[in-house]
Amino acid sequence: MKDVYILSVESSCDETSIAVVKNGHDCIALTILTQMDTHANYGGVVPEIASRMHTENITLVLEETLKKAGMTIDQMDAIAVAYKPGLMGSLLVGIEFAKTLAYVYNKPLIGVNHLIGHIYANNIEDRLEYPLLALVVSGGHTELAVMKDDYNFELLGSTLDDAIGEAFDKVARVLGYPYPGGPNIEKAAAKGENTYALPKPVDDDTYNFSYSGLKSHIINLVNTERMKGHELRKEDLACSFQTTAIDELSRKLDLALKNTNIKNVVIAGGVSANQFLRSEISKVCDRYNAKLYIPKMLYCTDNAAMIGAAAYPLYVKGDFKDFDLNAESHAGVCD
Ligand code: KG4
Ligand code: ZN
Repeated sequence: MKDVYILSVESSCDETSIAVVKNGHDCIALTILTQMDTHANYGGVVPEIASRMHTENITLVLEETLKKAGMTIDQMDAIAVAYKPGLMGSLLVGIEFAKTLAYVYNKPLIGVNHLIGHIYANNIEDRLEYPLLALVVSGGHTELAVMKDDYNFELLGSTLDDAIGEAFDKVARVLGYPYPGGPNIEKAAAKGENTYALPKPVDDDTYNFSYSGLKSHIINLVNTERMKGHELRKEDLACSFQTTAIDELSRKLDLALKNTNIKNVVIAGGVSANQFLRSEISKVCDRYNAKLYIPKMLYCTDNAAMIGAAAYPLYVKGDFKDFDLNAESHAGVCD
């Protein structure tokens, strides 16, 4: 089969990103323009500002990517875009941009679920083997699913309330660390110790997760200690939070490995950039002799290369979208 080049677009939150991906595995060129510094001024992503910045920057990001690839749009086989889940305004900028390119250059249009994109980030420079257990840990989602084959998912469990990334961000905020909180909690935790006794998120035998109780407990603890004028051991609290939050992932993954006997595991989403998570999850996999796929740091947080990787099996199946493709703010890996 001839090589397939997909031009992929990601704009679901606060990164404007475009990539050229060959045959679903090789990232030929990738540009990621993050708006993080702008949103840090507000302590979180401001949707209106995010979509305006996507609109301002997306053409430049395209030009930059094509320059890096040394290719033209005519040479592409398809245009792919993340169309769910995410911020409506942000998604729509990418979708309208991708549709316009597909129409003008007469290319098929592929719609990609952003979370599935995070999973396929593990297929870049690697080959996923099925069946696998996918642990999706991002700013908006915490899901554990069985993936039997390309695009064949069975959801085992998901968060009942907050996502793990959201909990990292909120805990960071109450401790006074800037947005995005996850990497700052990780840095603080590395200097602290697990000395605070915190409630376990969900102490049961389902595959569900819950992070709002843990988050609220910490917010209350911080406020109470501050009111009493007590000094807070921020680094210890960051470490205790990180340990408790990630223990929960390890426990549920352990249960799934035991019950399903599946031997491949994928971690996906922004929180998979966390080194403590990587090492804890890899210990769980070692216990079951399971192979662990970990995305390269560059492909952990939002990027268009993962969208191109996830678009490839859809291209092969001929699963294309019409020009009435719309954004969807809510979706899990199975939706
Ligand atoms: O996948 P992602 O880039 O965007 C979404 O699809 O949501 O994930 C962003 C989330 C944020 O909550 C961020 O704080 C978290 O990933 N994150 C981390 C780390 N790097 C990013 N959380 C913990 N440790 C990190 N090193
Ligand atoms: Zn993401």
